[in-house]
Amino acid sequence: IKFYSLNKLDYDVHSLPYSLRILVENVLRHLNNGIVTEEHLANIFERKGEIPFYPARIIMQDYTGVPAVVDLAAMRDYVAEKGGDPSKVNPEIPVELVIDHSLIVLYHGTKYSLEENMKAELNANKERYSLLKWASKAFKNFRVVPPGKGIIHQINVEHLARIVFYENGLAYPDTVLGTDSHTPMVNGIGVLGWGVGGIEAEAALLGQPYYMRVPEVVGVVLEGEPSPEVTPTDIVLTITEKLRKKGVVGKFLEYTGNLEALSAFDRAVIANMTPENGATVGYFPIDGETIRFIELTRGKKKAKLVEKYAKLNLMFREEEPKYDDVVKIDLSKVEPSVAGPTHPEDRIPLKKLKESFKPKKKVKIVLEGEHEVEDGIVALAAIASCTNTSNPFNILAAALLAKKAVERGLKVKPWVKTSFTPGSRVVVKYLENLGLMSYLEALGFHVNGFACASCIGNSGPLKREVEEAIGEGLVATAVISGNRNFRRRVNPLIEHTYLASPPLVVAFAIAGRINIDFEREPLAYDPNGKPVYLRDIMPTREEIKGLEKIVGEEMFKEIYSNLFESPYWDMIKANEGELFEWDDKSSYIRKPPFFELEPLKGDIKGARVLVFLGDRISTDDISPAGKIDPESPAGKYLRELGVDNLHTYGARRGNHEVMMRGTFARFKTIYWPTGEEMSVYDAAMRYKQEGIPVIIIAGKQYGVGSSRDWAAKGPALLGVKAVIAESFERIHRSNLVGMGILPLQFKDPSVRKELDGSEVYDIIGLDDLYPGKTVKVIARKPGKTVEFEAIVRLETPIEVEYIRHGGILKYAVSRLLS
Ligand code: F3S
Repeated sequence: IKFYSLNKLDYDVHSLPYSLRILVENVLRHLNNGIVTEEHLANIFERKGEIPFYPARIIMQDYTGVPAVVDLAAMRDYVAEKGGDPSKVNPEIPVELVIDHSLIVLYHGTKYSLEENMKAELNANKERYSLLKWASKAFKNFRVVPPGKGIIHQINVEHLARIVFYENGLAYPDTVLGTDSHTPMVNGIGVLGWGVGGIEAEAALLGQPYYMRVPEVVGVVLEGEPSPEVTPTDIVLTITEKLRKKGVVGKFLEYTGNLEALSAFDRAVIANMTPENGATVGYFPIDGETIRFIELTRGKKKAKLVEKYAKLNLMFREEEPKYDDVVKIDLSKVEPSVAGPTHPEDRIPLKKLKESFKPKKKVKIVLEGEHEVEDGIVALAAIASCTNTSNPFNILAAALLAKKAVERGLKVKPWVKTSFTPGSRVVVKYLENLGLMSYLEALGFHVNGFACASCIGNSGPLKREVEEAIGEGLVATAVISGNRNFRRRVNPLIEHTYLASPPLVVAFAIAGRINIDFEREPLAYDPNGKPVYLRDIMPTREEIKGLEKIVGEEMFKEIYSNLFESPYWDMIKANEGELFEWDDKSSYIRKPPFFELEPLKGDIKGARVLVFLGDRISTDDISPAGKIDPESPAGKYLRELGVDNLHTYGARRGNHEVMMRGTFARFKTIYWPTGEEMSVYDAAMRYKQEGIPVIIIAGKQYGVGSSRDWAAKGPALLGVKAVIAESFERIHRSNLVGMGILPLQFKDPSVRKELDGSEVYDIIGLDDLYPGKTVKVIARKPGKTVEFEAIVRLETPIEVEYIRHGGILKYAVSRLLS
């Protein structure tokens, strides 16, 4: 094997955390390419500054992937218009897009539910899927996993991740950036990767480096053995609680200590919830268990290659590195738990659950007879989400519990909507082989889809009678085997969601309420009136472990042999040319005019403030994801198109007309030349008509929250040339630069208090931009002129290039055309 060897470095690689060794290899492989230098290598060892990072591949899901594909399609058009060869516009590294976010659980509880939900999904998403299907044929290096195959992170762990690339005789570590926050799940099998925003991913797939601060690495030392009644979910909820308390935001975590106590599947569960503890990465170094997992999922040959490479290049776990900080977690103290009702880090030991929830209201509902129910009823019990549904231990525990419950004659309470949406088809394979699927189905847990479903809020309607009771003020709860439980995340009517292991999801469906003391109260009574307690039907660790052996290599081979094909996908029509055929009537997909935007040429003269903002403006404030108000500019535009179901901004990210109208949708602003109050969109259009440049003024932490790319794309389309803020959030700052908007920081933050947004602005000194330059700003209004300095928040020479070209997309296209 040929590889860039860490052995030959003068630095002390042996004490470097394993996750950073992968960054070192990345720098070595790109050294002296005009961007990467020896200094970057030193930065990693000294944990300072930034490095340019080149991921080996990109993964996307459909919510974030559609806008990225729209941009690439528009880029091809632009290249063709300029006389270039559009077929040259392609991702330079492999991109895999998994369609998993759009399925809604409209049907449940029958053997037809899966097919009915999938048909409804295809019908509702035809336009978006047609674009993706076109892209899968038109672009090199771009593959689409059709709907109905599973959830992005589980498919990544079980199949897509290469762990080690081996191409043209050269071996190097698999590294991945994903446009989804739970990308770190793959850290569980020794792959370094994390979630990024859409513009960053687009830049990376076009061959640009991703700039990252060298992180501190916290060693998470796992001690002891988990006790027999504990599931991997209990372990991850405990870790999440502990790490949140410690504070690990923005750091790399690296697990160490008694890793032998955890299977690779368990490690993936723990790595999955990395965003919930706040870290960027939750890395498990490659060891014997990783190799065993690779053999199971990818065969012996691949496993041997990974083992050989990792051992030769100091990436196989042997020695104990030095961490910047350490936290210890005793696995023997983990107890059965849930987390909720609104934060994943709020763990509640199962034995304290009853006292944590005090019901107040009681109502009668008629559903298979009359029942008096009270606050805390379980309205939704969902075995769902990427976190837990591909972990065989968890799933077999749920199925065995279902079997024992059915054998004792127990049923699910009639007010509970049950749902099973596994993240991988392998799961159903072994459940069927073991004859256990029928027991889950007997309790209503039929497969409703292989998708995110309830986890992303697509849980569909609850039982009608329950919805009515909620309307009368009853507090209903949801139990889900997922990773997030913010208010109304899983269902718009549910404020209280509890995260729990798959067997507990089944148990709660039988109990029908959240406020139960499993120790003292029976789950239910059998047909003979005998009480049945959770302990009576909870399978033992030995029972589960015994069954786990059935999960074999041939199952992964069979399921993943046709990952990119599906009869449902065949039904989607798509054009086959090099260029996408845009449909002027589509309300979901439109050709964005990013390539027509004028780049910043020099000083900004006579600018007006489009919006004058305070501190902590989030990306959701800038570009909301939720429902579209029919009276808003976006709502009016859609109604004019004749659209009845306005849907959400999140689902319409492929249509810039909706998204630019939705930018700052919650704000009103003043059109200063006349003093009229109006929507931000309307004001921007007036300024555009008059040829007046616009800027934004904001306080501290501008762009806090998610890495939403539309929070930069929207303002760019509204004509914003610069944002002057007291400080910027890291990812949003780079998204602004990516869209050609200049970030400027008040040198003296107190100046903002002297301004009110009514001024006319000149920004002087933009002719020769460079990182950190100080420029002059003059703000004039009748009777007052304020002059102040602002720092150019560009961090590298390449960012100057992005601004000069009008953003990353235009920069990339200019390289292609030259
Ligand atoms: Fe999907 Fe939920 Fe995971 S939205 S990717 S299942 S966190």
